[in-house]
Amino acid sequence: MRIGSEAHKQRFCRQFIASHQVFDPRTLPWPELDEASLERMRTVPFWNEVLHTERRAGAIVGAFAATVDDPLVREAVELQGVEEARHAALIDEMIRRYGLPVEEQQPAPLAGDTYRAFADFGYGECLDSFLGFGAFQIARQARFLPEPLFVIFDRLMAEEVRHIVFFVNWMAWWQARRGRAPLRHLVALYYYGRAVARLVGTVRRGRRQNDGKDFSATQASVFLEGFTPRRFLEACHAENGRRMAAFPDLLRPSLLPALAGVTLSCLRLVSRRAGTSGPAFGAGA
Ligand SMILES: [Fe+2]
Ligand SMILES: [Fe+2]
Repeated sequence: MRIGSEAHKQRFCRQFIASHQVFDPRTLPWPELDEASLERMRTVPFWNEVLHTERRAGAIVGAFAATVDDPLVREAVELQGVEEARHAALIDEMIRRYGLPVEEQQPAPLAGDTYRAFADFGYGECLDSFLGFGAFQIARQARFLPEPLFVIFDRLMAEEVRHIVFFVNWMAWWQARRGRAPLRHLVALYYYGRAVARLVGTVRRGRRQNDGKDFSATQASVFLEGFTPRRFLEACHAENGRRMAAFPDLLRPSLLPALAGVTLSCLRLVSRRAGTSGPAFGAGA
């Protein structure tokens, strides 16, 4: 299959549309939580950020969909917008059910180039999802929250995986059609650089707002038990491989897994030379 061809477009759009699932966040099997689980959920400092990111995502994707000429691509992008808005509704439902503390925030108005906003958003999603895969797996293994909640969040994660696969295929298709295929990796580097800068800004802002107090040491220790940067990277890399295996006949994000793979190989080599082969992820809790 030639990247940028009609066959390529048909494949990435039709797979995306066909794998859309219909559900209502209000009728998901939300578990009753005991006081300890509720308290743990309340100490998570990023629900606010997640809610507003998802709301903004729905607005960006919806605005971009309206500018797409190709009917099939537009249908797929519109569907992604619907799913992003549903992510916000799902987080909203969770916040309401469990009485989690959030601040109502007016969404910032969208301004400027919708293509650029969609590209920034898409590469940002690739970065956030790659890191999210590892964090999600570690939190699940540590039983940070009851398993039924992870089953619900997994639904959301599976949709994010579809979004990033759709995005990298759409981007490659779009660039190939404009004769810019050779620039694909450079463009990706540029947007990943912007995504990293935004993520660093978000983390700094979060630290300032929470001042390290909300996510108390006791709560964090459950999540962070046995946590090391290497373990985290191994979890991101392994989970990325597992989740991406579901899309064998489409392009998949390649830069971050490749970077992580090289970093892990170097770390293993250093460990072997030093005579300490750190434990494989999953061997512990
Ligand atoms: Fe989302
Ligand atoms: Fe998404």
